[in-house]
Amino acid sequence: MQAIDFVVARNDLQQCKTIESQLPDAAALPDDGLLVKVTRFAFTANNITYAVLGDRLKYWQLFPAPEGFGNIPVWGLGEVIASKHAAVATGETLFGYFPMATHLVIEAADVSKRGLRDGAAHRQGVAPVYNAYTRVSGDPAFAGKQGDYQALLRPLFMLSFLVDDFLAENEFFGAKAVMLSSASSKTAYGLAYLLHARGNGIKVIGLTSAGNTAFVTSLGCYDEVVTYDSLTSLPTNSPVAYVDMAGNGPLRATLHRHFGEQMKYSGIIGLTHRKPTSDDPAQALPGAELQFFFAPDQIRKRTGELGPAGFNERFLAAWSGFAPNLDQWMKVIEHRGPAAVQRAYLDTFNGRVPPYQGLILSLSE
Ligand SMILES: NC(=O)c1ccc[n+]([C@@H]2O[C@H](COP(=O)([O-])OP(=O)(O)OC[C@H]3O[C@@H](n4cnc5c(N)ncnc54)[C@H](OP(=O)(O)O)[C@@H]3O)[C@@H](O)[C@H]2O)c1
Repeated sequence: MQAIDFVVARNDLQQCKTIESQLPDAAALPDDGLLVKVTRFAFTANNITYAVLGDRLKYWQLFPAPEGFGNIPVWGLGEVIASKHAAVATGETLFGYFPMATHLVIEAADVSKRGLRDGAAHRQGVAPVYNAYTRVSGDPAFAGKQGDYQALLRPLFMLSFLVDDFLAENEFFGAKAVMLSSASSKTAYGLAYLLHARGNGIKVIGLTSAGNTAFVTSLGCYDEVVTYDSLTSLPTNSPVAYVDMAGNGPLRATLHRHFGEQMKYSGIIGLTHRKPTSDDPAQALPGAELQFFFAPDQIRKRTGELGPAGFNERFLAAWSGFAPNLDQWMKVIEHRGPAAVQRAYLDTFNGRVPPYQGLILSLSE
């Protein structure tokens, strides 16, 4: 049986291809090895960021690919089809970080009732979340459409949750409004939902492209929606915070110059726009100094303060309030097979996926 991997050229992400290899048979698995069939995975702009930062943040080391190429990590579900670990049965379903591939060999370690870890040498030295798998067989929260929601949004919503928590912990740096770029993105609207749900009078402003304004407005969790070309219409008479998902330097500079000292916080979260720019993020701009928000650091800090159970409890409460909205806010679109995956990748890379869509992919036909 053949395995299929989808890989991209590291120095030109527009170039991509599938490669086939022989699937290892069960006897050839390493000790405690599992052969997992990757059944479905989500694909969003965040995965493109993994590729853009592949070298810097070690994403390329997780799932080896031929020289010059990288396999982009994705969140999804897999089924164990062969096992050399006594405590893990074939047929089990795992949720976690997978390659864009039909199969993955995992060296099962730290197996508990709830999860396991891939102990393979090349997967160490990254944040623990990137080699942990949750055992979800029979769990209705990961079955059918709920499983798709988890793959598409849960990792993104973790970021939304962390930023909301961080801003609240810092009393919004004195801001009376929070502006979010890439407002139509799943991460941004997760954050907007949480900020809006606080009901503390702090205005949530979504910045988006003209074509996505109607979608962003329809979500109902932004108090105001402004297109990128009309930012300077925003009033400057009260303090603001800026959460930058887009990573668009000129946009950031426009906002800082417009708000001046009223800009009380400016944090960079993402890189959706990726347009080549001569902008130096460290250049002196009026207002708050630019901060890079690194999720694993904030998780470490908050699990230290709240304890892992306390942190988890807060996250789950936030997720259970947010997830029911997805039936209205997102349409899951499934694409199967190498050609369809390639199209979905290029559409996402080139910003052609409408924001109401949540892409669920599989390299198996
Ligand atoms: N730091 C972290 O740990 C972390 C974690 C999660 C997500 N993020 C970041 O959050 C951002 C959003 O990710 P997501 O997965 O939620 O996105 P998504 O739902 O796929 O976002 C789609 C939206 O992003 C904008 N966009 C997408 N591709 C674009 C392109 N090529 N050119 C210009 N705009 C584009 C458009 O929004 P508009 O029209 O509204 O601009 C589009 O509607 C990403 O930058 C991601 O890396 C960071």
